[in-house]
Amino acid sequence: MRHLVTLHDLDSSEILEIFALVQELKDKRARGERPQLLQGRTMTQVFEKPSLRTRLSFESAMWELGGGASFFSCKEAGLDGRESVEDVARVIGRYSDVITLRTFSHELIELFAANSQASVINALSDLSHPCQALTDLFTIQEIAGDLSQQKLVYVGDGNNVAYSLANCCAKLNVPFVISSPPGFELCSKLVNTLKKNFPQVQLELEADPHKAVADATVIYTDVWASMGQEAETEKRKQIFADYQINDSLLSAAAKNCRFMHCLPAKRGLEVTDGVLDSSHSIVFEQAENRKHLAKGLLVWLMQQS
Ligand code: CP
Ligand code: NVA
Repeated sequence: MRHLVTLHDLDSSEILEIFALVQELKDKRARGERPQLLQGRTMTQVFEKPSLRTRLSFESAMWELGGGASFFSCKEAGLDGRESVEDVARVIGRYSDVITLRTFSHELIELFAANSQASVINALSDLSHPCQALTDLFTIQEIAGDLSQQKLVYVGDGNNVAYSLANCCAKLNVPFVISSPPGFELCSKLVNTLKKNFPQVQLELEADPHKAVADATVIYTDVWASMGQEAETEKRKQIFADYQINDSLLSAAAKNCRFMHCLPAKRGLEVTDGVLDSSHSIVFEQAENRKHLAKGLLVWLMQQS
């Protein structure tokens, strides 16, 4: 039985196995085939934060594969102090084959994984968003082609999405550059661990966004204020103003550069309408792939149990 708490739980060859499964299931779906690979399996989702893509991708994935899904807020599940986290994890683990969790605290997901007999998937924590990064690298491979020819440049906050992207790029040997305002960089401890574990991979921090995007084949951004940081929105608008993805920044990148965003986007802040709606943008293909990735990941995880 395997968990996906962070991308450290998967090695490079396992990520590629999952991508192959995702592609196979996506191709089959396009031909009208929905193999019932998870018939009789159950998934329980417990979310502390809002979600459109993640919740729906997992729920619809499970139904299409012949399984079933239930959804709880953390409060409804009793994680507001009604009972201990360990007891909730033990109980849900006995009712389910897989549990997806979206939380503020990353430690809560670790605690669940340590106490659950069902596979636990991190559906976003303040630290990481592994399912998003897996989807993103799958999407780049599918649309832009050979991963070894890509350079992913992330411009914006050194947040959960940025960390998982850096981790996934390191595992798949994709050069990754991140450009953030001073004080909002990716945590140096996490960067150093990645550099130590993957010394051959390019992982760079470049504060100047125009310099950072030179030769980018993919430019990626995310919101400036993540869920839980809403009170900092106004302050961050000032600090991140030079990090907006607009036509000027896009023109400093490779000619056919793609634009990606995990969504939801704050149009007019981290990205202009012009870029988000341009022919460079692959954000809705990326969003769609969350569902295909969820199918492949669920099937792969259940094959390990
Ligand atoms: N990208 C993403 O995780 O979207 P949701 O917050 O809507 O799930
Ligand atoms: N960094 C964002 C990602 C949302 C999918 C957040 O945590 O709110």
